[in-house]
Amino acid sequence: MILSIESSCDDSSISITQIKTKKIVFYKKISQESEHSEFGGVVPELASRLHAVTLPKILEEAKDFFPQLKAVAVTNGPGLGVTLMEGVEMAKTISAVLNIPIIAVNHLKAHIYSLFIEKETVFPILVLLISGGHTMIVKVESLNSMQILASTMDDSIGESFDKCAKMMNLGYPGGPEIEKLASQGDENRFNFPVPLSNSPLLAFSLSGLKNAVRVQIEQLGGAKNLSGQDKRDISASFQKAITAHLLQKSKKILANQNIKNFAIVGGAAANKSIREAFDLLCNKLNIKQHFVELKYCSDNAAMVGRIAIDYYLNNRITDYKNISTLVSKKRQTGEL
Ligand code: KG4
Ligand code: ZN
Repeated sequence: MILSIESSCDDSSISITQIKTKKIVFYKKISQESEHSEFGGVVPELASRLHAVTLPKILEEAKDFFPQLKAVAVTNGPGLGVTLMEGVEMAKTISAVLNIPIIAVNHLKAHIYSLFIEKETVFPILVLLISGGHTMIVKVESLNSMQILASTMDDSIGESFDKCAKMMNLGYPGGPEIEKLASQGDENRFNFPVPLSNSPLLAFSLSGLKNAVRVQIEQLGGAKNLSGQDKRDISASFQKAITAHLLQKSKKILANQNIKNFAIVGGAAANKSIREAFDLLCNKLNIKQHFVELKYCSDNAAMVGRIAIDYYLNNRITDYKNISTLVSKKRQTGEL
């Protein structure tokens, strides 16, 4: 079995997966959303302190499995340096004490492997990764071949949902709240611009849309003066523009690549309206859309465990003295 740890942002999670069957035999996640909500976003220092309390508690629950562990896997980036450290230090300790190797896992690749939790892999597949930290389309041909075809030039999708929510004092995380309000709003009340709609660039950009929402809120008298209906309509119109943007750029890439599998992963993949819009597109293009279980869209250790199985079977393991946290580089294209 492999024990996996995730602490790249505000979720403390540990999972234990059977190598042969890929089955999860232990899984737990403690989210810190309510602790960060009053700040309208994740406070790294607070997140780090909370991981230091919750990770050992979860580990205690998993200790009966220790004798069966063959490796320990941990997310070592990209993410928040001070929170990644909590998971990495715990993994190093487990590795040293149990004398088992460490498997360092890239967080974005783990999100891609959330598609294959308790399942076989499906390659080649085009993956739209939309999380709080990233927005990109990745051509995934194998465990070791993942190529970024397009990515965001500024904000990520999840981040823009969070910022839009913050502008309306809706708390953190903004995605689920905006989605809920949007379902009762009029998506045609505000005509927010669809980013890069007249540009041939195969890239995403969210900063202009965010600014349009800010200006609209100001025109309505500021956040304090927004009625419930205003908030619902802004949410719906904003979500409509984001969905149109994602569709427009993805459509071009899907049409150019002869790949018959597609999936959306990452926290914002939980958004039903985005999922449904892509379902229609995939049906039209005769492409099969694969789905991540809702509970595994946001950060979790199960996806870390799933990719770790494939690394373990390919002998991609390391020693605890040679692992560190990675500082992420902003990459527009190229190998993930
Ligand atoms: O993947 P994730 O848990 O963390 C990162 O790796 O960043 O993604 C978290 C992001 C947050 O920005 C959150 O607002 C967004 O996912 N999110 C959503 C929804 N649920 C979560 N965005 C849009 N619609 C949702 N239903
Ligand atoms: Zn994530």
